[in-house]
Amino acid sequence: MEFSTTLKKRISIRDFKNEQVSKEILRNIVSDAQQAPSWANSQPWRVYIATGETMKNIQKSHLKKSEKGLKGSADLPVKDIQDWGKLPFTNMSTWLDKVNSDATMKDFLTANVNLWNAPAMAYLTIPKTTPVWSVYDTGAFAQTLMLSATNRGVDSMVAYENIKYPDEIRENLDIKEEELIIAGIALGYRSEDKINTFTNSRLATEEILTIK
Ligand SMILES: Cc1cc2nc3c(=O)[nH]c(=O)nc-3n(C[C@H](O)[C@H](O)[C@H](O)COP(=O)(O)O)c2cc1C
Repeated sequence: MEFSTTLKKRISIRDFKNEQVSKEILRNIVSDAQQAPSWANSQPWRVYIATGETMKNIQKSHLKKSEKGLKGSADLPVKDIQDWGKLPFTNMSTWLDKVNSDATMKDFLTANVNLWNAPAMAYLTIPKTTPVWSVYDTGAFAQTLMLSATNRGVDSMVAYENIKYPDEIRENLDIKEEELIIAGIALGYRSEDKINTFTNSRLATEEILTIK
C-alpha cells in the first residue's frame, strides 16, 4: 500500500465486524512495530494480545463496570482537560463538540463501553521502573503497530477506554503489577456501521510549525 494511503486509512474505528484476526497477522503486526525507535534501543515494551474468549471476558467485565458507573483508574494519571493548556484544550473542546453534535456519533458511548465489539486487543506495557521516556517510546511503538495493521488490511482503535480498568486486563492476561499498562489498541475489521464514517480534521500545518 502507498504510504500516504496507509496514513489516511488509519482512522479510529469504533465498531468491528465479528471476524477474528489470524494469530499470524497479529504476530506480523507486532514484529513490524518492533522497528520503532527507543531510547538507547531500550525496547521497554511488552505486548499482550487478548483474542477469542479472553477478549469476550474483558468486554463482559468492562461493560459491567461501566454500567455500575465505576470511575476509571488507568495506570497513567488522567487530568481534567481544562488543565492541559490552551492549544490541546481548544482542540479537545472542538472535537468533543463535534462528537456531541454529529449524527454518526450517536452511539459513541455505547461503542466505548462495549470496547468496539473488537475481536482482539493489544495491550502495551513497560516496566514500572522505566522513566517517562519509555512512555514516549511506547507511543512510537503504538503508531508503528497501527500503521502496520492498516497496511495489512487490519483496522485499529487506540483509546483510554481500553485501559481505564487495568484490573480486568491484568486478571485475564496475567500481567504483573510491576508492569504499567500504557496503551490498549483494538484490532479487527471495520463494520459498515455509520460510526466508522465520522470524519476528523487537523489544524493547518502552519499553525503548529515554525521553520527558521
Ligand atoms: C491516548 C488516546 C486515548 C484515546 N481515548 C479515546 C477514548 O477513550 N474514546 C474514544 O472514542 N476515542 C479515543 N481516542 C481516539 C481519538 O479521539 C482519535 O485518535 C482522535 O480524535 C483523532 O481521530 P483519528 O484517530 O480517527 O485520526 C484516543 C486516542 C488516543 C491517542
